[in-house]
Amino acid sequence: MTPPDLPAELRAALEAKLQGLSRIDTAERAVLISRTYRDGGNSGAITSTADALAYALARMPATYAAVTASLNALCETRPDFAPKSLLDVGAGPGTASWAAAEVFASLQSFTLLDANAALRALALDLCRDSARLTRMTYRRGEARAALADSEPADLVVASYLIGEIGETERRTLAELLWSKTRDTLLIVEPGTPSGYARIITLRQQLISSGAQVAAPCPHDGTCPLASPDWCHFTQRLPRLRAHMQIKGAVLPFEDEKFSYVALTRRPVERRLARVLAQPVVSKVEVSAKLCTTEGLAIAKVPRRVKADYARAKHWHWGGTLDRNNTP
Ligand SMILES: C[S@@+](CC[C@H](N)C(=O)[O-])C[C@H]1O[C@@H](n2cnc3c(N)ncnc32)[C@H](O)[C@@H]1O
Repeated sequence: MTPPDLPAELRAALEAKLQGLSRIDTAERAVLISRTYRDGGNSGAITSTADALAYALARMPATYAAVTASLNALCETRPDFAPKSLLDVGAGPGTASWAAAEVFASLQSFTLLDANAALRALALDLCRDSARLTRMTYRRGEARAALADSEPADLVVASYLIGEIGETERRTLAELLWSKTRDTLLIVEPGTPSGYARIITLRQQLISSGAQVAAPCPHDGTCPLASPDWCHFTQRLPRLRAHMQIKGAVLPFEDEKFSYVALTRRPVERRLARVLAQPVVSKVEVSAKLCTTEGLAIAKVPRRVKADYARAKHWHWGGTLDRNNTP
């Protein structure tokens, strides 16, 4: 399992970029950018070097943690997956490329695409001292146009991108992403009902085009969750000192909620039941809500079945069970 913390090289590069800059100014920019997102805006608000850095300090640790958690889940169901090439679409400061490089030592080529000049410049700066990422190709352009003449890659990632694409363009973008996927496509979105809705629409569309779900679902059928419930996960991550200062935060960690789907062209042999919420551990039993090949299930493991109970105490939200029902 790759940890959710930013790699040391990236942490150092971010801290170095902050040297000599006003933390107050950077914090104000981060607040403005967050407000723009909350009001339904997008990364178009990031127009300068200082904006790009404020965005990266405020959001990169969390989006990195979400992508890493999603890739870890993919590795569990596809332990033999060893991609050589990555296409990171809507790459921003390069977050998903850093995460994929950590998870897959096999990756040799990194192609990033994004429309935002300031985020592209920051990404190139951040990876200057990275042995593996320094050779990345970062193309600037609108995703659909840039994708149309991109080479396919073994792993394609769109992290926190789809929400920035208009509803009418999403279908075309999804087809293009899939057409450039040699093996696996990972889509990550915020873990909100609307982020989940975007994931589930895209999932359905691409299953119709022949995709299979590698994670999180143990099936390719309709999602068994009904509104107001939605499928999402949470990843705890440590906050950097600069991250805390920029956010005016007191706690040394935060929890990022995210939704994701990993779709593959290969047969998925390991269909593992997924834990959909924090399991409840009591003195009587452990109970957990699961998504299984047969639909939703509640697994209950009584304390008196000692070995099973001890194992069930390690279940966690987002994790899988070895078998498709209670142990
Ligand atoms: C919220 S940021 C996510 C950045 C990065 N993937 C991450 O996870 O940290 C969304 C990114 O998508 C890019 N983007 C949005 N719409 C785009 C489009 N139509 N074409 C290319 N890039 C786009 C933005 O410029 C921005 O860098």
